Amino acid sequence: MSEHVLIERRGAVQVIRLNRPEKKNAITRAMYAAMAEALKAGDGDGGVRCHVLLGQPGAFSSGNDLADFLAVATGGEGGQEVYDFLLALAGATKPLVSGVDGIAVGIGTTIHMHCDLTFATPATVFSTPFVDLGLVPEAGSSLLSPAVMGHQRAFALLALGEGLPAHEARMAGLIHAVVDADALEASVFSSAEALAAKPPEALKIARDLLRGPRDQVVARIREEGEHFRTRLKSDEARAAFMAFMNRKTS
Ligand code: COA
Repeated sequence: MSEHVLIERRGAVQVIRLNRPEKKNAITRAMYAAMAEALKAGDGDGGVRCHVLLGQPGAFSSGNDLADFLAVATGGEGGQEVYDFLLALAGATKPLVSGVDGIAVGIGTTIHMHCDLTFATPATVFSTPFVDLGLVPEAGSSLLSPAVMGHQRAFALLALGEGLPAHEARMAGLIHAVVDADALEASVFSSAEALAAKPPEALKIARDLLRGPRDQVVARIREEGEHFRTRLKSDEARAAFMAFMNRKTS
């Protein structure tokens, strides 16, 4: 449970909405735990046929909470909630539809590589400044994104840290469609409800065939995670987190 993640049922669609607008939907450990719990509960509930992931106007998510990263970098605990969430996401048995407006940083971008249909507004920019933060790609993105967009575009996104505006993300195959902000939720729910109305067994087989074996993705999430945990405690990462924390005072 987290006040910063709102879970709602709309018919056979389960809606998971990030709700921490004052921090641009930066995701805390409690938020990861709440999202993992919702995905697992929805997957186990015969009444749920589709998951929807949404953020707030102007911010899908600014990525992992950097204060949580700094806590780990300076000797604290953390990481299990993220890992549990990534396993629930990669292993989700029902279709995932997402809607994005504005900021989509780090996991706020890589989460959509696990979605089946993503809609984004023209104001959206996807970005993953992992290397600039002294970190490495996560969420299976080092495997999934080259497969979707080829090595060079994936490298520009994940290693160079170049932002990918919505229209380019659509051309690259990262997302399904670009829609105006006032049509975002209607587009998301129209597709989610259409999926929810389809014969569920046939849809599940079709989705499994299209997504391919999950074990490779899970193995990559684990491999990335090992590097990520080590990198979090590196001098490079600690300096980057401190610079962010101090940026308004320095
Ligand atoms: N973790 C923790 N807090 C965050 C955050 C994050 N990832 N992203 C934003 N916030 C907080 C800011 O500290 C600020 O809090 P404050 O009002 O208490 O000072 C608030 O959210 C608003 O952010 P702000 O930076 O003022 O908004 P902006 O529109 O100028 O910039 C971003 C938005 C997303 C570009 C900028 O906040 C940013 O670069 N965030 C870090 C993104 C990141 O590196 N994520 C990790 C990826 S692995």
